[in-house]
Amino acid sequence: MVVIRSLYSVILNGIYFTGAVAWPLQPLDLAQHDPRTETQIPMTNATPVTLVADESFNFNVLAVLSGAPYEGADIGEVLVAANNIIEGDFESFHDAFNDLANRVHAQAIAIDDKKHPLSARNLFFKSAAYYRAADAYLHGNWSDPRIMTLWQKQAEDYNKAIALLHQPGERIEIQADNFTVPAIFFKTSCTGKRPTLILGQGYDGAMEDLYHVMGKAAVERGINVIVYEGPGQPTVRRYQNLGFIPEWERVISPVVSYLLTREDVDADKIALMGYSFGGFLAPRAAAFEHRLAAVIAIDGIYDFGESILSQFGEGPAELIRAGNKEAVDELGKQIQATANAPTTVRWGLNQGEWTFKTQSAYDYAVQAQRYTLKGVVDKIRAPVFIGEAESDIFFAGQATKLANELGDLATYHLFPNLDGAGEHCQIGASVMMNQVSLDWLEDVFAKTQ
Ligand SMILES: *[C@@H]1O[C@H](CO)[C@@H](O)[C@H](O)[C@H]1NC(C)=O
Ligand SMILES: *[C@@H]1O[C@H](CO)[C@@H](O)[C@H](O)[C@H]1NC(C)=O
Repeated sequence: MVVIRSLYSVILNGIYFTGAVAWPLQPLDLAQHDPRTETQIPMTNATPVTLVADESFNFNVLAVLSGAPYEGADIGEVLVAANNIIEGDFESFHDAFNDLANRVHAQAIAIDDKKHPLSARNLFFKSAAYYRAADAYLHGNWSDPRIMTLWQKQAEDYNKAIALLHQPGERIEIQADNFTVPAIFFKTSCTGKRPTLILGQGYDGAMEDLYHVMGKAAVERGINVIVYEGPGQPTVRRYQNLGFIPEWERVISPVVSYLLTREDVDADKIALMGYSFGGFLAPRAAAFEHRLAAVIAIDGIYDFGESILSQFGEGPAELIRAGNKEAVDELGKQIQATANAPTTVRWGLNQGEWTFKTQSAYDYAVQAQRYTLKGVVDKIRAPVFIGEAESDIFFAGQATKLANELGDLATYHLFPNLDGAGEHCQIGASVMMNQVSLDWLEDVFAKTQ
């Protein structure tokens, strides 16, 4: 969910933001180019209603709501919280979700979980999700103590929730070369060796979210699920102090090796899903880890560095290519210090620097160039489902590129605006996303007898 919009050039020319002059941009309305709408229902507006004026906040509120079909949220209380968020005000986003999380947490601990285990689980899952949401905009200041305290709270509530699942979730630490991979295993109720899906996040999400994104949907289909985090991702960044690494097979191979030690995992049916920036990380790992039977990229990314440069905008991209560290860093610092700079831009930089563990915008952009499938894509052997969101504002064009490079191994699927599935990562359309991608996965597994 990376975003650095091309507004740097505006600042470069000495013009400062004065609030939402050209902001928020309306999501690209491609409805009139959709042949179905042209021939059948030409007046249909395929743009979702805006919940919060601030584009970035709107996206993240929708991301929380998106967990509702899978125990991650209740719609009304999130809409009430959303109405307390002030455009461009990061603290207001924290406060709205932190207050909600505290309220739901109080309801959760008031329940006798022996008498009402399902209700307690529902509430703990929700309070945990809301504590995570409260953290989303805090990474601009690395010493903000809330980065750690909110994470502790979400993990504690989440642990209570997963202990109350019919098959309790299991927290695991898997040893990698010189770091550990935290993971949670969710077992299906089916007996014997089962197909297993590894779920991984991207640039900002947490492994805990993934149960509400795809995990529960997979478990309900008789597929075991393991969610994990690697360097740069929430717990590894916090507790092992590690930023992203491009060699994602260093994270995935130990997870696959661990799965092969389990009695309940079918060794021939292990798949990997990457979400958001994970749409790069998963195919990257699959280029070097050939024990995977299938890969799902939600959505596909071929060259992360290229999209970061285009998000920086042409002027700054030129400065980056010219190696002008000083100018790019100065620009980055200016934006981070400008309270009314667009949230999307300010958040994208804060989050990018935090997860790549650098205080330099230039260094972040340069590091990002190493995250490409160029030169390794032809090492992938597993079939890959490649989603593309019709209105993906972060990675436009990347999914198509990956599908073209993969050729016969790719199954490309466009998620359209008209179905409400055109946002980055199919935010707001998780049921449809799971239907399409997991049906594909079940069909691949069925052929792997
Ligand atoms: C970052 O947070 C710490 C701890 O709350 C605080 O002492 C410090 O002043 C903050 N730094 C900035 C630049 O806001
Ligand atoms: C971890 O291992 C990688 C490669 O094996 C190496 O590049 C890196 O420096 C190591 N990091 C630490 C902290 O030892």
